[in-house]
This record gives sequence, structure tokens and C-alpha cells, in this order.
Amino acid sequence: MNRAWVREAVRLIEADANRSADTHLLVFPLPPEWGIDLYLKDESVHPTGSLKHRLARSLLLYGLVNGQIGPDTTLIEASSGSTAVSEAYFARMLGLDFVAVMPRKTSPEKVQLIEFYGGRCHFVDIPAEMYTEAERLATECRGHYLDQFTYAERATDWRGNNNIAESVFAQMRLERHPVPTWIVVGAGTGGTSATFGRYVRYRRHTTRICVVDPENSSFYGAWQTGALDYTTGMPSRIEGIGRPRVEPSFVPDVIDEMIQVPDAASMAAIRLLRERTGHWAGGSTGTNLYGAFQLIARMLEAGRHGSVVTLLCDGGERYAHTYYNDEWLAEQGFDVAAHSAVLEKFLESGRWAS
Ligand SMILES: Cc1ncc(COP(=O)(O)O)c(C=O)c1O
Repeated sequence: MNRAWVREAVRLIEADANRSADTHLLVFPLPPEWGIDLYLKDESVHPTGSLKHRLARSLLLYGLVNGQIGPDTTLIEASSGSTAVSEAYFARMLGLDFVAVMPRKTSPEKVQLIEFYGGRCHFVDIPAEMYTEAERLATECRGHYLDQFTYAERATDWRGNNNIAESVFAQMRLERHPVPTWIVVGAGTGGTSATFGRYVRYRRHTTRICVVDPENSSFYGAWQTGALDYTTGMPSRIEGIGRPRVEPSFVPDVIDEMIQVPDAASMAAIRLLRERTGHWAGGSTGTNLYGAFQLIARMLEAGRHGSVVTLLCDGGERYAHTYYNDEWLAEQGFDVAAHSAVLEKFLESGRWAS
């Protein structure tokens, strides 16, 4: 592989990181007398608008340092979402072609975003065929399949190197409860929860990791039963998280707790977030928040003080026509009102009545 080109490619990616400021750690307002603080790590402010900016950077560097990417390599990924948007951004930076293999029903917003960064979208009718089709395309054009679902947990440095966990702990340092009791995240590839789970053990923190799971996802069943071949065969309705099969980057042994969250509850939580903070977020952030509130209610009941950190994974603008559209919610049969009432009651009383 052309080493001079690889050196320049790595410099370009590192320069991009050096130009980027770290993402904010936002405070969600809770009654001070509870003695519990809730924070959201705002990953929507990355240049490509989601937590996947970090993963895309790691996957590109991983391919470069493994000698798998050169000046004429076409990059391929199986993703309909945030990862493909971020990978298209880095591919363009390196002057490489990028192809995202995705289900035909992918939202036009996501397709436009990938094409905005110069990527090409390749559609499959059966979502489960995304992986094999991406592999076939990579073989056919002698390209490189970035394969987020397999390499997310391997390409991300769990010891530090400004990974998302190290950034959170650095930003919590001056808070009244600097070591969180819980960190709450969702799982798509499983890479983010693996990074947090490994980091807190490596740094010998008492922090526990809770993974929230939407409807139809296989992760909860796999974690509960220990069966990694657990599958639902059903697609998730919350973009970015929940999978019909257990992905290779899902590491159940570093997860202390899992909570299943109804999809309509995720919708209710992002609307509450917008009302209470003005921040607009995607569905997976609602899933995170709903889980975080339940853990806070449990801490209150136990008379425990502390802090809880979760993620604002991507911006809500991408979901203006779906999650934030009442007609769309009604068409999908999402009854948000009941869950909104649970959230209002919780923020009033601290009790979780669901
Ligand atoms: C919006 C959003 N939230 C959360 C996640 C979950 O992250 P991970 O893949 O690291 O499990 C993803 C993953 O694609 C995502 O796109």
C-alpha cells in the first residue's frame, strides 16, 4: 500500500479531530433537593451531527493502519444511518468513493445527507441482506467493507485517546458527583456501550453501565438469556439502535443492567427534552432518557444521591417528518400521551408510575 498516501490520509483525519472542539455535557434540570444530577453528552454537535462521527473516524484509521485502504480503494458500509453519513464525510476528505448499502425504505433525509457528502446509496429490498450485499460489492470492486457491526468494538480505543468515556469523565470532574452512578446508552453496533463498559472497569470506577433497548430488538433477550444467537428478525423503529440480530460488537459482559423501553415512550421523552431544555434530539436519545429517569426514580426510592450520564446521540432535525410529526405518529400507532403523563408525574414527584 502507498505509505506516503497513508501518512497523509492519517494526517488529514487527525487534523480534522484537532480542528474539532469536544462535544458539550449538558445538564437536564431536575429538582435540586433530589440530590441527583442528570447530564446529556451532546453528540449532535459533531461535524456530521451524531455520535457516529467518532466511530467513522476510528473505522477509517483502523482500515488505514491495517493496510486495507489506499488511494484507489472504494469504501463500502452496511448502514442506513448516522454511520454512513459520517463515513461519507471522511471518504470525501480522503478523495475516496463511498457506497452505503441500505434498505430501500431508508428516510430520504438520510439518503440526501449521505449524497451531500459525496456518498452513493445502494438499496436492498430485504434489510437483512445489507451485510452480504456490502461484502459482495466490496469483493466485486476490490474495495474495503468498513463493517461497523464487526469492528466498532475493536476500532475504538477503550483505554482513552479521547474516546467518549474519557471525555465524559473529564467533563464531570468539577461536578458535585464527579463519578456517575450510572451511564445509560443504547446499542446499535454495541460499540458505545462496549467502550463505556471497558473504560469504567479499566479506570476502576464504580460507575455501572445500563443499556436501553427499543421494541423488537434482540439485545435484551441475548443479555438476559446469555444466548448470543438470540434473534427477533424484526427491524427496530428507533433509528440507530435495536437490531434484529445480536451484532458482533455487542459485549454483554460489560453491561450491568438492561432496560426495555416502549417506542412510544422514546417519542414522549424527546418531546419532553425539547420542552424542558429546547434541545432537539433523535429517537435513540428518548430511549436513553426514559431509561435514565427510571434509574433516577430507583435511586430516589433508595435514598441515594449521585449523578447519571446519558447521550444526546443525534439532532432532531433529521426526524422532523417522523418522530416530531403528530400525523406520522398516529399512522404508526404510537400513543405518546400515556408515557408523557408518566414522565410529567415523575418530574413532579420523583415516583415512577408506569
Ligand atoms: C442515533 C444513534 N444512536 C445510538 C446509536 C448506538 O450506538 P452504537 O452503534 O455505538 O451501539 C446509534 C448507532 O448507530 C445511532 O445512530
